Amino acid sequence: MNTADSDSIAGMLDSFGFEKSTEEKADIVLYNTCAVREKAEQRMRSELGSVRIRKEKNPEVKIGILGCAAESLKDKLEKEEWIDIVQDGKDLEKMKEAVMKILPDEYEPTQDSFGLHRGGENSGMIPVIRGCSYMCSYCIVPRTRGLQRSIPLEEILKDVELSIEKGSKEIYLLGQNFLSYGRDLSKKISPEEMISTVHDSFPELKRIRFLTSHPHDLTKNFLQTMTSLPRVARYLHLPFQSGSDTVLKAMRRITTRKTVIEKSQWVREIWKDATLSTDIIVGFPTETKKDHEETISLLEEVKYDFAYSFLYSPRPQTKAFPLGDPIPHKEKVERLSEVTKVLNSIWFEKNKKYIGKTVEVLAESEEGKSENRWTGRSEGFHLVHFDSETNPIGKYVKVKITKTGSTFLGGEIV
Ligand code: 5AD
Ligand code: SF4
Repeated sequence: MNTADSDSIAGMLDSFGFEKSTEEKADIVLYNTCAVREKAEQRMRSELGSVRIRKEKNPEVKIGILGCAAESLKDKLEKEEWIDIVQDGKDLEKMKEAVMKILPDEYEPTQDSFGLHRGGENSGMIPVIRGCSYMCSYCIVPRTRGLQRSIPLEEILKDVELSIEKGSKEIYLLGQNFLSYGRDLSKKISPEEMISTVHDSFPELKRIRFLTSHPHDLTKNFLQTMTSLPRVARYLHLPFQSGSDTVLKAMRRITTRKTVIEKSQWVREIWKDATLSTDIIVGFPTETKKDHEETISLLEEVKYDFAYSFLYSPRPQTKAFPLGDPIPHKEKVERLSEVTKVLNSIWFEKNKKYIGKTVEVLAESEEGKSENRWTGRSEGFHLVHFDSETNPIGKYVKVKITKTGSTFLGGEIV
């Protein structure tokens, strides 16, 4: 979501003739910040130190702090006189208006400059919902980004069109909970209707992805619709957070272990070849050893293709914050490493099955370690490494898999 917002702000600045620069040389430095875990906030604070030194050396430089930490640390940041803008990420237009205020008067925005993206990247990030109306007790997002607001379909279609014009080879339709799309619009529309319209409106678009989905809102109808849309990438991210019902209740997740398992079975039965991934929080304040084992057993039962696991991080003003952070850090880290160990062995076995198969990959970047080696993502979101004498970035290539590890597939272009 932040990538999408940053891209759009950069697009507006491009339209005025600004160019991307390095942090050391830039006339304007904008930070679009995250606050989901404390670490993200800390990173921003440590960056601020070096920016401040630059501002002291050259007071002409304009500094802006945008996004979620601009909301969570608002009182603190607003006291820092050397910061020119502090603007939360609830509303993209407000972020752009804030940036306009630090530009010299000669820059006049047009309606167009507010709709632009920098683009030119492989993947176009298109927000379809801003904010979230769920109230998971650990999560700061409803506070920093506000309650759910779906973006009307016409605007989404315009954004996708612009993104393709700018060179996107695939798009990500983004919402904190994609599956609740349209609920808050006066003209009711379901997420499956929305994604079908995007699919049918852009036959030239080879890959459409959507992120992220609360299991509570997953329906059989949605999955059945996905099977009829061949250019929607067969990949579903379905965070479950904890395998224990008591922790799920304390997390206010509104789903139970049983529904999480049942819905993952639907995916495997209906959207048969889709890969499935999840998010896990380890060390929630009420999590006992037994609760933790239930998370491990759920992972073993569902056998996710990927998972992102996080140490619980207390966030001020969330419902869970008064519970503190009672599990010792060492214990939390041990639980996380147990999760990682289980996941790695599941993935290792799963990935081995790809040997000899050919997958289509959108090439994204150099692999970084070996010359003429590149990296991209398969339809199912696997990280795929392959060799090529010519630069394949931005192209779809077919790769025959010859080698696998827990976290990657490797092969040759065919
Ligand atoms: N601590 C740790 N992880 C968190 N997430 C959200 N809030 C927190 C928190 N306070 C994780 C959840 C979510 C992902 C985006 O970040 O797993 O799905
Ligand atoms: Fe946060 Fe829960 Fe909303 Fe996800 S669904 S953004 S975890 S409140």
